[in-house]
Amino acid sequence: MQWLDESSKALIENMPLVESLKQIAGQQRTSWHTPGHAGGKGFPDWLRDLFVSADLTELPVTDDLNRPAGVALEAMKMAANAFGSGLTRFITGGSTTGLHILLAMAVGYGGKLLLPRCVHQSVVHIAALMAIDLRWIAAGAYSRFGLLPQVTPQSVAAALEANPDSQVVLVTSPDYYGTCADIPTIAEVVHQYGGLLLVDEAHGAHFAFSSDLPPSAMCAGADACVQSGHKTLPVLTPGAYLHISAAALQSGRLSADRLEQMLPIFQTSSPSFPVAASLDYARAWLEHTGEFAITRQLDNLMDFRSRLSEKFICSPLSMKPDPGSSLFRDPLRVVVCLDGNISRPTASDLLMNLSAEGIDLEFADRRRMVLIPSLLQTEQAWQQLAVALNRLLPEKGGFGLVGDDDLMDGTWRSLMATVPEPILHSGEVLFGRHQQIRVDPAGAVGRISARLVAPYPPGVPLVWPGERLDKNRVDFLVRLMENNASISGLDQQGFWVLA
Ligand SMILES: Cc1ncc(COP(=O)(O)O)c(C=O)c1O
Repeated sequence: MQWLDESSKALIENMPLVESLKQIAGQQRTSWHTPGHAGGKGFPDWLRDLFVSADLTELPVTDDLNRPAGVALEAMKMAANAFGSGLTRFITGGSTTGLHILLAMAVGYGGKLLLPRCVHQSVVHIAALMAIDLRWIAAGAYSRFGLLPQVTPQSVAAALEANPDSQVVLVTSPDYYGTCADIPTIAEVVHQYGGLLLVDEAHGAHFAFSSDLPPSAMCAGADACVQSGHKTLPVLTPGAYLHISAAALQSGRLSADRLEQMLPIFQTSSPSFPVAASLDYARAWLEHTGEFAITRQLDNLMDFRSRLSEKFICSPLSMKPDPGSSLFRDPLRVVVCLDGNISRPTASDLLMNLSAEGIDLEFADRRRMVLIPSLLQTEQAWQQLAVALNRLLPEKGGFGLVGDDDLMDGTWRSLMATVPEPILHSGEVLFGRHQQIRVDPAGAVGRISARLVAPYPPGVPLVWPGERLDKNRVDFLVRLMENNASISGLDQQGFWVLA
C-alpha cells in the first residue's frame, strides 16, 4: 500500500522511534547484550515472519495464556519438563511481572519476606504494593568478577534464625555480573527451617541445559523461580518463564490455584502470543541444540581469552573460579576487568569506544565490562571483539581509576552492607498522599527519601522509599552523578524527599 511504502521519506521522518530503530538495525552492529536472539539472528526466517503475521492474543483458535487449556498448556508442560519444574507459566511482561506474581502468591498482602538488599527494582515495587514486611539477609560474599555481594547459606540461616516468624526467602542468583549463590545448600537450609525459597533467576534461563553451568534453581531444590528468557535465550523481549517445583506443589508450600488467581491480576489481558511462542521455540531449540550451543560458546570464550591482552583480566570458564568460596559463577556472563591502577581510561570509557565501532556491550562499571554473548554468537564476532579490545590498550602503563577506585567497589560494597534507617513503609511513601519536595544534597541528609534511588550500573537500589538518607549515601550518590552515572530516582535537580 502506498501509504506504508518505506521509501516515503516524509512518513519515516515523522516517526522518530521507527527511524531510530531502522537506523540502528541497518548498522549491522555486533551485540554482546540482551536480548539473547541477537537482533533476530537467533530465529529462523519463517519464525521471524510468523511473529508479525501471527501477532495474536486470546481467540477461540489460540488459547488463553492466563488460563491455558489447549496448545499453550501443552507448550508450558513441555517447558516444565525441559526446565525441571512441576509447573511452568509463560510470562509476557518479563521477570518484572513474574516476580510480582511470585511474591503476591507466596508472600501475600502484609506478609513477611527475607531478602538481601541486592534485588531488582521490581521487588521494591511489589513490596510497596503488597505492604510486605521486609527482613534483611546480610550479604557479604564476593566474586572477583563482580561488584555486588551475594548471600551465603550461613547468612540465610542466620536470617531465618533471627526471624522465626518469616519463612519466605528471596535470593537473586545469578546477579548482573553472573555471580551465583550456593542455591543447593541454601535450599536445604530454608527447608530445614520449614521455609520457602524463591529465586530471581532472571539472568540464568540457560542453566538447565549444560552441566558446565551452575545448577539451575529448579534443579537445585528451590521452590519457585523466574527467568527472563529474553536475556540469554532466543526469546522475544520481554518473554519470561515462571517455574514452580514439583516438590513445592506436592507439599502444598505453593499452590497452582493461587498462581492461576494471581496471573490475570498482574499479566495484561492481551498477552502477546509471538512472545509466548518464542518461549516455546527457545525450549525446543535448547532441548535440541542447547548443550552443543553452550559448549561451542565456551570454546569460543576460551579462544577469546587466549587472544586478549594480559592487561585485561577475563572471567574464567570455570563455574567455581574463586577457590574456597561458596559462590558459583556463570562462565557465559563474560566480565573483562582492567588490570592496573595507573591511568585512565576506565572500563566505561572503553565501552563507549567500542560502541563507536559498532560493538555494543551490556554494561560497564569503572573496572569491569560485562558481556552477554548470545548462544548463537559467531566465532568471527568473538575474534573481532578481542582485536577491538586489544586496540584500545593504552600505549604505556595500564588502566586505572585515578584515586577514585573505590567509587564503584569499596563504597558500593560498604553501602550495600548496611541498611539505612527505615522510617515509613515504601508503600506508604509511594502511594500515600505525603507531600514530596526536591532538595539539594546538603538539604537531603537526614530527610526521608520519597523515591527508590538506584544507580545504573548495576541497577540495584541504594535507597528504598521511606528510608532516611544518610550523609554517606548522599555523598556517594553526588560523586556518582558528578561522574555522569545514570541514577533512577535522582537527577541534577536534587533529591525527592518527604516535606
Ligand atoms: C536480577 C534481575 N531481576 C529481574 C529483572 C527484570 O527482568 P525483566 O527485564 O525480564 O523484566 C532484571 C532486569 O534486568 C534483573 O537484572
